[in-house]
Amino acid sequence: MEALENIVSRATADFSAAGDPASLENAKARYLGKSGELSGFRATLGSLSPEERRVAGAAFNAAKERIEAALEARRTALAGAKLSARLSEEALDVTLPGRGRGRGGVHPVLRTWQRIEEIWHSLGFEVADGPEIETDWYNFTALNNPENHPARSMQDTFYVDLKDKDGLPLVLRTHTSPMQVRYARMHKPPIKAIAPGRTYRVDSDATHSPMFHQVEGLWIDENISFADLKGVYTDFLRRFFENADLEVRFRPSFFPFTEPSAEIDMKFKHRWLEISGAGQVHPAVVRNFGLDPERHIGFAFGSGLERLTMLRHGIDDLRLFFDGDLRFLEQFA
Ligand code: FA5
Ligand code: MG
Repeated sequence: MEALENIVSRATADFSAAGDPASLENAKARYLGKSGELSGFRATLGSLSPEERRVAGAAFNAAKERIEAALEARRTALAGAKLSARLSEEALDVTLPGRGRGRGGVHPVLRTWQRIEEIWHSLGFEVADGPEIETDWYNFTALNNPENHPARSMQDTFYVDLKDKDGLPLVLRTHTSPMQVRYARMHKPPIKAIAPGRTYRVDSDATHSPMFHQVEGLWIDENISFADLKGVYTDFLRRFFENADLEVRFRPSFFPFTEPSAEIDMKFKHRWLEISGAGQVHPAVVRNFGLDPERHIGFAFGSGLERLTMLRHGIDDLRLFFDGDLRFLEQFA
């Protein structure tokens, strides 16, 4: 029995000393394996008397159970250690604030675009959309810009390396005014529409950007006058700025596609800032609409969305809109 006790205590000690599952399984083989120490002890039972064998057999079984229990306990301990090592390796501080993805927001110029559509739509204007890559005819000729007339170079144009069916280079539209012609040729009077969108010019300073946004407006019927332009446009501005008390002026100007023509300025930080061109649509342009200028007249305007946004928020430099600096943009989200 002493021999058994000895085996149990050595087995227990060896199991505890095993630092990983592989050495534990080796230790197991030394005691519980076919040619292990317990099997060796069992072989000695055969030479005992039946009475001695009964006692020794019971002791053998008890010793085997204790060894097996020690083995199982060590297995569990090693597995637990492995798990906690892994847990501490992959430790995660659940008390840290989440990184999140940010909520994003509507860009201030796009917000202006949306407000413009809402306001003009409520004044009975349809919203139209058209191409940013234009033909020479729609961008210039149809708008009464004769070839080689200085009006054509009034706007410094980005030309596209592609030609239209007349062999003329396509252009990035320099204004939304070609939409007057596109829309009017597809609709019958009364024509009452706006066309917001991107426009392009070789231009860059605090109030000019190479890509900017305009909204074109067009109202053609049998009796739409410059007085209507002033009334409707001023109404739009009051709604846009949510202020009935605005300083606005219509300054005489020139566009080949309107007669008379004006530029519309607003008071901004003690100076005037131009927000729009406008005027009565020129008879030659009404003819390009496919209409008779003796019968159909009306006004058009083209306003800068960046300028309107600058005025609304008191922003001095429109380049801030395109820098993508979140510290600036988040103020409007
Ligand atoms: C025009 O583009 C005319 N097509 C407007 C028009 C339409 C007149 C219909 C008559 C009838 P102008 O070049 O002035 O006009 O530009 C109109 C507005 O666009 C300007 O008042 C300004 O608000 C804005 N704008 C022009 N160039 C830039 C630019 N580079 N960056 C930002 N805004 C600009
Ligand atoms: Mg101008």
